[in-house]
Amino acid sequence: MCGIVGFSGTREAAPVLIDGLKRLEYRGYDSAGIAVADGERINVAKVKGYVRNLSEMTHDGADIKGFLGVGHTRWATHGAPNDINAHPHMSSDGRFAVVHNGIIENYAQLREELTAKGVKFVSDTDTEVVAHLLEEYYQGDAKKAVMRTAARLEGSYSLGVVCLDGTGRLFAMREQSPLILGVGVGENYFASDVAALVPHTKNVIYLDDGEFAEITPEEITVYDVRGIPVNKPISRIAWDVEAAEKGGYEHFMLKEIMEQPACFKATVEPRIKDGRIEFESFSLSDEELFGIDRIIITACGSAGYAGQVGRYVIEELCRIPVSVELASELRYRNPIINEKTLLIVISQSGETADTIAALKECRARGARTLAIVNVVGSTIAKLADHVIYTWAGPEIAVATTKGYTTQVAVLDMLAIYLADRLGRLEKSRYDELIVALHDMPGKIQRAIDLNRRVKRLAKRLCRHNDIYFIGRNLDYAVSMEGSLKLKEISYIFAEAYAAGELKHGTIALVEQGSLVVTLACYEPLLEKTMSNIEEVKARGAEVLAVVLEDNRQIVKMADEFILVPRTEPLFTPIAQIVPLQLFAYYVAKERGCDIDKPKNLAKSVTVE
Ligand code: G6P
Repeated sequence: MCGIVGFSGTREAAPVLIDGLKRLEYRGYDSAGIAVADGERINVAKVKGYVRNLSEMTHDGADIKGFLGVGHTRWATHGAPNDINAHPHMSSDGRFAVVHNGIIENYAQLREELTAKGVKFVSDTDTEVVAHLLEEYYQGDAKKAVMRTAARLEGSYSLGVVCLDGTGRLFAMREQSPLILGVGVGENYFASDVAALVPHTKNVIYLDDGEFAEITPEEITVYDVRGIPVNKPISRIAWDVEAAEKGGYEHFMLKEIMEQPACFKATVEPRIKDGRIEFESFSLSDEELFGIDRIIITACGSAGYAGQVGRYVIEELCRIPVSVELASELRYRNPIINEKTLLIVISQSGETADTIAALKECRARGARTLAIVNVVGSTIAKLADHVIYTWAGPEIAVATTKGYTTQVAVLDMLAIYLADRLGRLEKSRYDELIVALHDMPGKIQRAIDLNRRVKRLAKRLCRHNDIYFIGRNLDYAVSMEGSLKLKEISYIFAEAYAAGELKHGTIALVEQGSLVVTLACYEPLLEKTMSNIEEVKARGAEVLAVVLEDNRQIVKMADEFILVPRTEPLFTPIAQIVPLQLFAYYVAKERGCDIDKPKNLAKSVTVE
């Protein structure tokens, strides 16, 4: 969703804010803006579109003077993406400037109330009520105004406020929306995400819901909801600034695809000690473990598709029933859950609103909860009983790649770990799987080496307008992620179907000109998949087969093929998705799409 940044120091704020916004732009790119206080007034610059538009408009911030300010990059919820609805929003008296991520759910009522008092609104946003409320409650004490305003707000928000109060003051508030404070030397910061902080400091404070901070160049004071100072620990960020930069690649997405062997290694290797899997923070007693009678995996988007792979692997090895549920559906379904349920939530960002809500709902019903998360200190990581981090490093491209493969890696390890503890895995098979895990970075690298071939294929196939992905069992699970990648960044209609299900309806759409990407690496069902290839070919479709490297049979049937390195069959999805990520990337590139910032999407969806 939206990204917010704040700076208070003794040098010009605008360039720092704009640089921060560039690093947060994956959160939304409908508009960008900054508000900077120069002691006498708050100067605002905001514009529809990318941060580079803001940068051009202000000459990289040089036109906007002042040492303290806030910035915003928007993913529109209330009001069209235009210059007026762009943040920051100002109070009528010019004393307050506000940036916001989240949704003020009672904004209509507040707007009505303020309008009745004569306040004139200029934008269609929910955020503007905050600026006017601050003005309404200001009686010479900005902190009090912030507290009284917060007390009126319902919904989710991280807010940054500049107050022209003497020399100027900066506030940051958090309620169910990410916000991190950066502790510098002679200057301090806040941001939605550490990506904007790493160039300046690695020392951060994670705000909790209901807390707010007053930030000066020398000091950060955090208060609870009653305004009482809270002692907050300072944490160290493990990410380097280079990890959040393109490093010579044309797009973050390509860089992140290439990083996958290293990310897999970072996620898996430290957890294998003397040939045994050990998780640093997942400790169920035997009694708890043997009491689990079902596992529910819940997530959104690609994280849910990682869960689909995990379902097959966990069921296969552990013989515990697993269902994968969309987080946005699960929470409202009055789900049947109790303390015998293990709920696994998966989220790269750890901030997805639907996933957070499902986690809370299931916890309240007694489920034991385990989160698989990439961002340390994120909301989901804090809420779950246990956390296993994926060590993918910062993922900037909106379409996830290394986030997904490391999630699958953790699920694979978890399946092995649980199956072993439940006594359902032979020692020899356990050892075999551990060896296979160690082999995976090399296999992923070989999948990456398909780059040139996939690029050529993408060039030839990029003009198709409807693309179907089919597969069975694990192939089906991977086809869901393959089709999502393609549609997210190339805007081609792409859907995944269980290969056996196609003939029950969707085959009606298959015709001359359709492309069917057939995933056929799951060997026990190859013959069935081959029949499905015949069926779509008979209707005029072109077939791109994704098969294991030594499978010549399917290669002969298909129009085009991609040969995936052979791995332990349970781990093939990790090698198999890589050429599909590359395919999506190069098709999108051929079609001239904005790969890292696909239209209408945001990386971290912090609203329901
Ligand atoms: C958004 C993104 C998807 C992502 C999903 C879940 O919809 O566009 O790419 O898979 O959120 O994100 P999470 O951070 O929870 O993994």
